Amino acid sequence: MEYPFVDLYYESYGQGFPVIFIHGFSLSHVIWEPVIPYLKADARLILPDLRGHGNSPAPEGPYSMRMMAEDVMALMDKLQLEKAIWVGHSMGGYISQAMARHHPERLAGLAFVATRPLADSPEKLKARSKTINQIREQGVRVVAEDMSERLTYKSDWKVTNFNIINHTPQSGMIGSLQGMASRPDSSELVRNLSLPWVLVAGQEDRFAPLEIAREMAAPLDASHYFEVPKVGHMPMMEAPEVVAQAIRVLLADVESEN
Ligand code: MLT
Repeated sequence: MEYPFVDLYYESYGQGFPVIFIHGFSLSHVIWEPVIPYLKADARLILPDLRGHGNSPAPEGPYSMRMMAEDVMALMDKLQLEKAIWVGHSMGGYISQAMARHHPERLAGLAFVATRPLADSPEKLKARSKTINQIREQGVRVVAEDMSERLTYKSDWKVTNFNIINHTPQSGMIGSLQGMASRPDSSELVRNLSLPWVLVAGQEDRFAPLEIAREMAAPLDASHYFEVPKVGHMPMMEAPEVVAQAIRVLLADVESEN
């Protein structure tokens, strides 16, 4: 382990092969709740809050993607799990990529949800520092207002998402933005993954563009790529049955490998 880890808050449902759900930037384990009824009979679902998010401690950043991955690995150690499937949403996908880079032996499979393999572009880096300044000047509400408007295709989840984001500590948001800005490109890593993986992408995603998802999915066959119409950046809320189906495909792959 490269970094001192943070003891993460988590929730756990069901029994069976462990599946760990890693939420995106400024969100929390709550986003995965709609998926639980579809899967809890099939697997052991573990839902942590990342450092700086939800009910977990929020030390000062920066939080590298590797650091956040190793917090989750420490949770696996605590629960005595040798291997698990990781499901990574957006920033959670970047964290899962860091895990695949540094500790692939602890992964049985990966489900990427509304994420990308690319490092930040120069425009994205500029936008990140602007957001950091805005948070320092105006607090986290500015992010909650902006993101909750754009996360989903329909507005059904807007209030829930606003409340989750608005609850995220300032140190958690800034630490994550700094960490995302310094993450390496993982395109090559994803192209060459030797473990089973799936990708779920919303056709109306305003954070993880569809063209990038399609390119990322190039090594996958049709049964491992789930592109969902009328869904934005939050497929686990907007189409939980599709996310559950993707994970079931992965569970079957893992079972057939063992
Ligand atoms: C997320 O939802 O985790 C973010 O949109 C990721 C990012 O800002 O790159």
